[in-house]
Amino acid sequence: MTVLGVLCAVRGAPEEDVVMSLEGAGPGVEVTRRCADLTELLAAAGAGLGRIAVVSGDLPGLDREAVALLSSCGVTVLAVVDPGRPWEREKVQALGVPTVVDLVAPDPDGTVREPGGTGADVVTAVRRLLETVGGAPGRLEGAGTTTARVDATAPTPSDPGELPGDGQMVVVWGPTGAPGRTTLAVNLAAELAALAGPTVLVDADTYGGTVAQLVGLLDEAPGLAAAARAAGSGVLDVATLLRLAPVLSPGLRVLSGISRADRWTELPASALEVVWELLRVATPWTVVDTGFCLERDEVLSYDTRAPSRNAATLSALEAADVLVVVGGADPIGIHRLVRALDEVGGLSPGARRVVVANRVRAGTAGPRPGPAIRQALERYAGVTDVVLVPDDTAAVDDAVLSGRLLRESAPTSSARHAIELLAADLVETRTCPGAAGASAAAPGAHPRPRGRQSRA
Ligand SMILES: Nc1ncnc2c1ncn2[C@@H]1O[C@H](COP(=O)(O)OP(=O)(O)OP(=O)(O)O)[C@@H](O)[C@H]1O
Ligand SMILES: [Mg+2]
Repeated sequence: MTVLGVLCAVRGAPEEDVVMSLEGAGPGVEVTRRCADLTELLAAAGAGLGRIAVVSGDLPGLDREAVALLSSCGVTVLAVVDPGRPWEREKVQALGVPTVVDLVAPDPDGTVREPGGTGADVVTAVRRLLETVGGAPGRLEGAGTTTARVDATAPTPSDPGELPGDGQMVVVWGPTGAPGRTTLAVNLAAELAALAGPTVLVDADTYGGTVAQLVGLLDEAPGLAAAARAAGSGVLDVATLLRLAPVLSPGLRVLSGISRADRWTELPASALEVVWELLRVATPWTVVDTGFCLERDEVLSYDTRAPSRNAATLSALEAADVLVVVGGADPIGIHRLVRALDEVGGLSPGARRVVVANRVRAGTAGPRPGPAIRQALERYAGVTDVVLVPDDTAAVDDAVLSGRLLRESAPTSSARHAIELLAADLVETRTCPGAAGASAAAPGAHPRPRGRQSRA
């Protein structure tokens, strides 16, 4: 018979009741570790000691990342909460805990206060979980009449999974060599805000995010890190998210990025997934500036799940509805762009792909740079619709110097005009999905299903 290991990290008086009930549950279920804290629980899960973790809803440190870590170890979490503290249930549900059980400590004389659950209710919930986690423990005993609510289906304000968010995520990515990701993201967001309504510009570049500097928000605390922190603790909602994103110009808000590269650990994928989904609810358009690096080397370097250096970029790519891949329009930039298109392929399933060659100029691409770049990209990357953004040093430099958007500081500039056309194309293609735009769908693209995407 398969023995189902249960890891127990329950705090205080109810712990003994839970453990005793599970130990009396019958063959097939075994409490394999009584953990003093989250660290011990994660270590036991990483060592493969259990398939189910029974945890207190108020276990210190329990957040989305911890739940995701347990899940990545094949451990399903069951949280026990005090029914006298309803916010505790809401919190653990918002962290993505699938099963929540009310639990009250027995009085010293052995009776249970009403209303409340007992260790027996935990056993009932564990037995239900067995059906989904695939254990074969046989019949469990000790599952008496339950007063517990064993469900986690009600959506909460910070669990956007069931909310009807249909905002578009436009993710701007490009290879190393500063091809103009930030310039494009900032000005594309500005044009979208002017053409199509509320837009949030997000800086998710964890190597050298410069969105705040570029738009003149120098003293801004990193809004994205604060949003990720709130999402990680299960308390992020649309109102909070918008509060963290100050208004830059009519219709345009900015969620600024981390100011120092060594703060990248503040942006874990488990929290950002919630941020992306809430942005879909909060605003019709989101434009995300990302870092250049796509490596997942931690998978090779550690035999346990390690924090992912490029989680912000990778999770944004995964959530994208439109992926804008930008490369420099010089021989080296085009070479990198061709390789980058190969590298990024498949990381944004379902996204429409737009390829941009930035800083197009005669000096580096021959007397007729446009046709030369189109020809090279078609030949080496099979890209038939490339968006060309001219090199417009005077206008772009002036915008950077004054901390303004191109549409404000140089509305007639050629770079602004090209970005405005791209924005119009994105809006038109969204409104009329059949419209032929300036770009092509990624090979194998399929419509993105609404709601949170599950991760493998
Ligand atoms: N179309 C353009 N015309 C002229 N200059 C441009 C244009 N696009 C970008 N630049 C300039 O190129 C430089 C790099 O641009 P940007 O910072 O947007 O690149 P990036 O890809 O975000 O770089 P990083 O890797 O540092 O994040 C900046 O000095 C910017 O002003
Ligand atoms: Mg940048």
